[in-house]
Amino acid sequence: MSDHLTVVDHPLVQHKLTIMRDKTTSTAKFRQLLREVSMLLAYEVTRRMEMTTQRIETPIQPMDAPIIAGRKLALVSILRAGNGLLDGILELVPSARVGFIGLYRDPETLQPVQYYCKLPSELDERLVIVVDPMLATGNSSAAAVDLLKQAGAQNIRFLCLLAAPEGVKRMKEAHPDVPIVTAALDERLNDHGYIVPGLGDAGDRMFGTK
Ligand code: URA
Repeated sequence: MSDHLTVVDHPLVQHKLTIMRDKTTSTAKFRQLLREVSMLLAYEVTRRMEMTTQRIETPIQPMDAPIIAGRKLALVSILRAGNGLLDGILELVPSARVGFIGLYRDPETLQPVQYYCKLPSELDERLVIVVDPMLATGNSSAAAVDLLKQAGAQNIRFLCLLAAPEGVKRMKEAHPDVPIVTAALDERLNDHGYIVPGLGDAGDRMFGTK
């Protein structure tokens, strides 16, 4: 645990994650748990947002009550698996703006190439939370954050379900100003770039594809 990496070790998160990792867990159950875990992770990643006060009247007396300051936050999903984290977070933050970044890996250079990008306006004035369930090599995450910075984002956080040490290192080198929140820091990547012990292909697990 550091300022750059927060592992949410709450018992509810860890219990649900164990069921998600189990290969016998069905697509429907996986999806339901993903929604629940993403809500719990959203609680953590939205800590320390800028606050202000608003004058209201309770039934007893007026008060200056705390509210979140500034523009609505922006969630940015890295396609396609990032979409699995959106529903749970939007339940907690229903007014969030939502953007999408699609990247594929060029088979020759192995570098991420953008094929889709649609982002909310005024990114420079928003807290931007990038969501992708698996922080594996970190290449696509770092590329997505590059893109967001080019688009003006200045206050960026990264939310994932599982992280590999390789991905955390890559992100820390490329974007030391982007804190990462995850449910677990796993052991390593295997030769195919999968997180070990991991949970397999997150997109396939949540969408029921192979
Ligand atoms: N993407 C996945 O879906 N799973 C991994 O283990 C790594 C990257």
